[in-house]
Amino acid sequence: MITVNENFLKLKAGYLFPEIGRRVAAFAKANPSASIIRLGIGDVTEPLPEAVVKAMHEAVDQMGKRETFHGYGPEQGYDFLRKTIADNDYASRGVSIDPDEIFVSDGAKCDTGNIQEIFGLDNIIAVTDPVYPVYVDTNVMAGRTGDCDASGRYAGIVYLPCTAENNFVPALPKQKVDIIYLCYPNNPTGAVATKEQLKVWVDYARQNKALILFDAAYEAFIRDASIPHTIYEIEGAKEVAIEFRSYSKTAGFTGVRCAFTVVPKQLKAYTKDGKAVEVAPIWNRRHCTKFNGVSYVTQFGTAAVYSPQGKQQVRKIIDLYMSNAAMMVDSLTKMGYTVFGGRNAPYVWVRTPQGVGSWEFFDMLLNKANVVGTPGAGFGSAGEGYLRLSAFNQPEKVKEAMERIANL
Ligand code: MLT
Repeated sequence: MITVNENFLKLKAGYLFPEIGRRVAAFAKANPSASIIRLGIGDVTEPLPEAVVKAMHEAVDQMGKRETFHGYGPEQGYDFLRKTIADNDYASRGVSIDPDEIFVSDGAKCDTGNIQEIFGLDNIIAVTDPVYPVYVDTNVMAGRTGDCDASGRYAGIVYLPCTAENNFVPALPKQKVDIIYLCYPNNPTGAVATKEQLKVWVDYARQNKALILFDAAYEAFIRDASIPHTIYEIEGAKEVAIEFRSYSKTAGFTGVRCAFTVVPKQLKAYTKDGKAVEVAPIWNRRHCTKFNGVSYVTQFGTAAVYSPQGKQQVRKIIDLYMSNAAMMVDSLTKMGYTVFGGRNAPYVWVRTPQGVGSWEFFDMLLNKANVVGTPGAGFGSAGEGYLRLSAFNQPEKVKEAMERIANL
């Protein structure tokens, strides 16, 4: 008899974004003439930067000739890309990361979801609430939790409420935790964490032999010069943190797939009898066993993100999305909504009108304005009473969405 991994049966029905996609598709089917504006899932709309396209063409040509053809590459990524990342994303900010501490992959979603595999099932996991659902669901799948309660919280997970009162940066937990997922600039609230705020967590992790899984997928959207772009700007973080980065939102790679994870050599985890073990070789072992590396064409194109032209073109795309975010913050504020985020992140976190729940507001916007957002409650119970709007769309569409919401 085949038995199923019953942990999967604990999961709430559908993953958030497909569920929203299903509702939007049903609406579109029933209202074929509606012109829907999608500010839901954070999927980019601008095409790839020219420098990337050019490099990818060049790489395809190389692949077409025996002398320059590439078969399997190093699972961890080509040296040319790992070194470029170390220089441009880290050395440029005064942080020393060795290229061999960088693991190139096909997405931060996969890496933030897979990383838990290399840690014991008895670790106590802490997540912010609201939270990117991947962190929670993958721990449920692994069996680190009990069942889900009526509010959507799983037994065994420590939830750290992020509210307007704490500027969406959580306070330290009352109970001891072992693995903490933090994402700044934050998805979904658009909040950022200062150096001082991150230092509190790094110090906690050092004192408690805990690990921070730091999702920095949105770092390129930071505008405020005082906000750290990497957790390794905080002293001691290399001993206690793994960082995840992505090209999806920065270089328009949602359909291309490339990201990387940094596992510093200093980082240790412990056996049950307290022996310290280096984490990087374990992640390397997992990565090499389950993954054959990102394609050469993609990595060659990714390296072009860091060329002078690439940097300029990426900056222009990010500026466009951030001007959308500014437009949303400004328009919604004028309409009387309470709005957070959108200043150092491509997400705007809108408080729903008094007495209107997240899903109700989502339905209202979809039905009356034909605008798609993401209900805050979909990210956790502390997201109830909020709706997330993504800045990833064309400015004309964002402007029209704002006009439609204003006319509600
Ligand atoms: C989001 O909308 O939260 C993101 O696009 C999801 C993701 O990056 O997987």
